[in-house]
Amino acid sequence: MASPTVVILAAGHGTRMRSKLPKVLHDLCGRPLIAWSIAAAAEAGAGRIVVVVGPGGELDGLFGDDVVLTIQAQALGTGDAIGAAALEIDPAGQVIVLAGDVPLITGELIRELARVHEAGGAAATMATMVLADPSGYGRVVRDAAGEVERVVETRRPGDATIDQLAIDEVNTGIFAFGGGALLDALAGITAENAQDEYYLPDVLPLIAAAGGRVAAHVVDDPGLMLGVNDRAGLAVVREEAQRRIHAAHMLAGVTIIQPATTTIDFAVEIGADTVIEPCTQLRGSTRIGAGAVIGPHSTVIDSALGDHTRVVHSHLHGCELHDRASVGPFAYLRPGALLREEARAGTFVEIKNSDIGVRAKVPHLSYIGDADIGEATNLGAGSITANYDGKAKHRTQIGARVHGGVDTSYVAPVTIGDDAWTAAGSVVTDDVPPGALAVARTRQRNVPDYEARRAGRELPERGA
Ligand code: UD1
Ligand code: CA
Repeated sequence: MASPTVVILAAGHGTRMRSKLPKVLHDLCGRPLIAWSIAAAAEAGAGRIVVVVGPGGELDGLFGDDVVLTIQAQALGTGDAIGAAALEIDPAGQVIVLAGDVPLITGELIRELARVHEAGGAAATMATMVLADPSGYGRVVRDAAGEVERVVETRRPGDATIDQLAIDEVNTGIFAFGGGALLDALAGITAENAQDEYYLPDVLPLIAAAGGRVAAHVVDDPGLMLGVNDRAGLAVVREEAQRRIHAAHMLAGVTIIQPATTTIDFAVEIGADTVIEPCTQLRGSTRIGAGAVIGPHSTVIDSALGDHTRVVHSHLHGCELHDRASVGPFAYLRPGALLREEARAGTFVEIKNSDIGVRAKVPHLSYIGDADIGEATNLGAGSITANYDGKAKHRTQIGARVHGGVDTSYVAPVTIGDDAWTAAGSVVTDDVPPGALAVARTRQRNVPDYEARRAGRELPERGA
């Protein structure tokens, strides 16, 4: 079978989404709706992928050169949209039409449709499904012999009769056509209907009248063909997409304690024996190694986490954790935070753009920004890097095995040598040599009998 051209319709207004963003750019588990259809087409071995888009340019440059964008000037209906791709359709070849708002379709299903179409010698094969609640979809009208006659639309009253509304077989919006038969029939459709639109399924009776065979392929799993028309539909599709992503990870050895409260984007990678605790979100390009425990209540975005890492009640964005590093509870790791092997960011700790060395620890209540912290260093509670002087950011260099006292401010740029110490409450503005103790605070002075003086009482007797 020659690899077919796949045309994906994505130029509709998406009015029912009530959004400034084109419908096909709404996010579904980490990539836009349209990217799901494109991926399925590629997986099916499409020879050419053509996406029909509106004139707004919102999809320009989003996909590689393998995807051809063609513009439908005005959204005059699905029949007009396919016309916008007419120059891309080979009259002698097969063309598969997908809808950009039916994202769960698989490559396997596209191949199956192409096979059925070819095997049946059809000029048009429509993928259909039977739904318990068919509302909103075009209904498939069959003749007495059971052959497909046409599709009646139901989005606005006027196109379908009451009897037709009772039909539970619907058009999925996915078709295989002989290129020539499609192009010929397109020339004959009109917009005389309840929506004043050119309906693509109207080509079916014209193809039949011209002597072509019109077939239907009933898809057994309607979950694959759910359309997204509004945000409620998007939520239904998201649930299904998420279920699939979870299933793939679980089959690959990942434990997901509570799938219903766990969000995992499609590109996320997770190693075997990792446990994802409840209420956890793994987003974007996140990669997690084996044997890790992530969550509960954690969000990890575009981050790389090694084997046996631990993250509890924390928010991580654009950061890197090497093997056995641990985070939280209640830590915030921002872009450029790197925790090397066995390093630790503890409770109420914020770290950005900093390299935390092997076995180094920032256990409590600290802000570390633009710093390099050496191996096995331990920073006390309340360690703060003063990295910004109001104009520019500066780096703090802290060596290996440093003992940072509690409540130490490191006023950058500043360098602390290996094995150095800082006294509690120090504001360190000058470099500290290796092995030295920095005491950078005023000495304590006790004012005797302060309370009694304040109250105007007699001072107590003192021994001579
Ligand atoms: C369409 C079908 C309906 C089917 C349903 C399946 C038609 C007339 N109706 O209805 O039979 O049951 O899909 O989900 O085909 N588009 C364009 N340009 C346009 C209009 C639409 O590119 O001028 C694109 C949209 O972006 C969308 C797809 O075509 O991706 C379907 O359009 P939509 O308006 O959602 O059609 P439905 O009412 O869902
Ligand atoms: Ca639709």
